[in-house]
Amino acid sequence: MANPAKTGTNLLYALIAQARGYSDAIIMGRGDPDFDTPPHIVEAAKRAMIEHHADAVPAEGLLALRQAIAERVKRVNQIDVDPAAEVVVTNGGQEALMLMVLAALAPGDAIIIPEPNYNTYHDALKFARVEKIGLPSTAATNFRTDPDAVRAALTDKTRALLLVSPNNPTASVIQRADLEALIALAHEHDLIIIADDIYDLFIYDDYQHISPASLPGGKARTLTLNALSKSFSMTGWRLGWIVGPADLMARVRELKAAITGGTSVISQYAGLAALTGPQEPVQMMADAYKRRRKIVMDALDEMGIKYGVPQGGQFVFADISFTGLDSAELAEKILTDQHVLVYPGSAFDKERGQYIRMTFLQPEDKLQEGLERMRVAMKNIMGTH
Ligand SMILES: Cc1ncc(COP(=O)(O)O)c(C=O)c1O
Repeated sequence: MANPAKTGTNLLYALIAQARGYSDAIIMGRGDPDFDTPPHIVEAAKRAMIEHHADAVPAEGLLALRQAIAERVKRVNQIDVDPAAEVVVTNGGQEALMLMVLAALAPGDAIIIPEPNYNTYHDALKFARVEKIGLPSTAATNFRTDPDAVRAALTDKTRALLLVSPNNPTASVIQRADLEALIALAHEHDLIIIADDIYDLFIYDDYQHISPASLPGGKARTLTLNALSKSFSMTGWRLGWIVGPADLMARVRELKAAITGGTSVISQYAGLAALTGPQEPVQMMADAYKRRRKIVMDALDEMGIKYGVPQGGQFVFADISFTGLDSAELAEKILTDQHVLVYPGSAFDKERGQYIRMTFLQPEDKLQEGLERMRVAMKNIMGTH
């Protein structure tokens, strides 16, 4: 296998470092949006730099921003929260997920995680000394989270369930009936639901995003993460939030105060402009992802590569088992041959070596070129081993 000493995030870093060595590299697996942050948001940040640069900020975030977040989660997610006690602003989704794990779980507790899933959850659990109970899913079921499988995986240490919908990297969206069954299960076994809604505005075909906290019985036991990184192309601004019931949120606020204190005041004003200003940029990006999704799916169909149909998010998780190669080895070969980087499934979870992640986060012409080069690489690889 390629890069035998490297697994998980380290494996990705090694491949990204190799790609950086090529001036014409196309990073087809990248996770950060390629659009500029909308200009009115940048302007709001400039104003905040002049007018608010020396302001002290509360650990939980500016009240005006928490109010805007409460309005947003009501409007988009049908979650009712009190901005005074049930919202905390975070440094992006990344800090939010660590805070949620620390607030909801104690060392020795266990959490059920549908896999594959976003890498950093594994790291967060490791540092929180929480046991992960992985629940494998496959392309054959479009990476469904099966409530019966969750029930079968429960142990007496299980205290929480992670629901990322749409999921990264599988692009699977949890359907209403499954979500209702999962909430009933959480109620029965007194589990906290850690919900990650970061891709909630990017949904395809007739699928529907439903926040667990919006369903009966959901809110009292659910911590919900979101961030502006994906929806407004604001990855580097580090602006996210957690909403949830007041008792758990009191703990989140304490942790936030202890770890970083308040989030940068400049980014908070930028976030306020994003949430209260024009929403057309989000629609423009969502429309572009829809077009790009079709381009990627058509190309994979042409290459004869099977995949879970992306129901939401910005990814395709494609099954490359027919090549006979591990995904890390295949990714390295495609990169070396054609300077196109697809992300190996084994970087997300060591059991997912038969998959690669590709994303829609390139302008269409670059996406087309990347796919064409990938087609050439696949032909070369299939002809030579
Ligand atoms: C599912 C999921 N949650 C959280 C994050 C972290 O988001 P942020 O960039 O806001 O830290 C990501 C980033 O890719 C993600 O895919």
